[in-house]
Amino acid sequence: MSDKRAIGIFDSGVGGLTVVKELMRQLPHEDIVYLGDTARVPYGTKSRQTIIRFSVENALFLLKHNVKLIVVACNSSSSVALAQLKRNFKVPIIGVIKPGAMDALKVTRNNRIGVIGTSATIRSKAYQKHILKGNRSAKVFTQSCPLFVPLAEEGWAGKDVTADIVKDYLLPLKKKSPDTLILGCTHYPLLKKGIKKFMGKGVDLIDSAMSTAKSVKQLISDNSLATPKNSNGKSCFFVTDETTQFKKIGEKFLGRRLSLVKKVKNGL
Ligand code: DGL
Repeated sequence: MSDKRAIGIFDSGVGGLTVVKELMRQLPHEDIVYLGDTARVPYGTKSRQTIIRFSVENALFLLKHNVKLIVVACNSSSSVALAQLKRNFKVPIIGVIKPGAMDALKVTRNNRIGVIGTSATIRSKAYQKHILKGNRSAKVFTQSCPLFVPLAEEGWAGKDVTADIVKDYLLPLKKKSPDTLILGCTHYPLLKKGIKKFMGKGVDLIDSAMSTAKSVKQLISDNSLATPKNSNGKSCFFVTDETTQFKKIGEKFLGRRLSLVKKVKNGL
């Protein structure tokens, strides 16, 4: 059995392209329909109710494009809106939190796990809940790092100012001696090098974009949803604001040219 429909994926903006990049690598035959809610980004500073409302609208948009499953690439949406989305819609819906938490549990040796993310993600305690469900005796240390989002978008990963900010945010966390750190935000993989350098060799970083793509692959095979192997995956990108900025920044996140970017007509 096979299913030619596309994978739907949404994010608050450009960051979800880190998940798309991994999906393209791990599932090269699959078509992708991406929605970046660039008119309303950021989500990470917004309230739970607002993030849930936006997430439901994003999912409805993707379903109009006849997607076979939905990937919630945004950590902030996954943290607070996943349960509501699953209640509202019948298609399989997968978030980024559980895959990242499960991978962290596989990797940790001392059961001390750090989590960094937006304010909404950290406030929700979603990563803690999944980690503790998997191992009651794990110790979880969290830190919100809101400035990492604009730094990644500016392409400032290699600057001294970024190294200073990394140190400021992560020093209290480093003092707790975790051996594993979850990058719980779409943007943080772009700052991986600096974060790794500061945390040191003994700390493994979990890229939730990679973990999620692995889970999507599993879900597709478990549910016989794979597209026929002879097709070449096509991608289409929608945004809720103008396309220029998304294209410019997006290419850094995706690591390749972004050709088909369209603005959603008349909003969501
Ligand atoms: N995509 C968001 C996340 O992963 C980061 C950007 C935002 O705050 O909207 O939480």
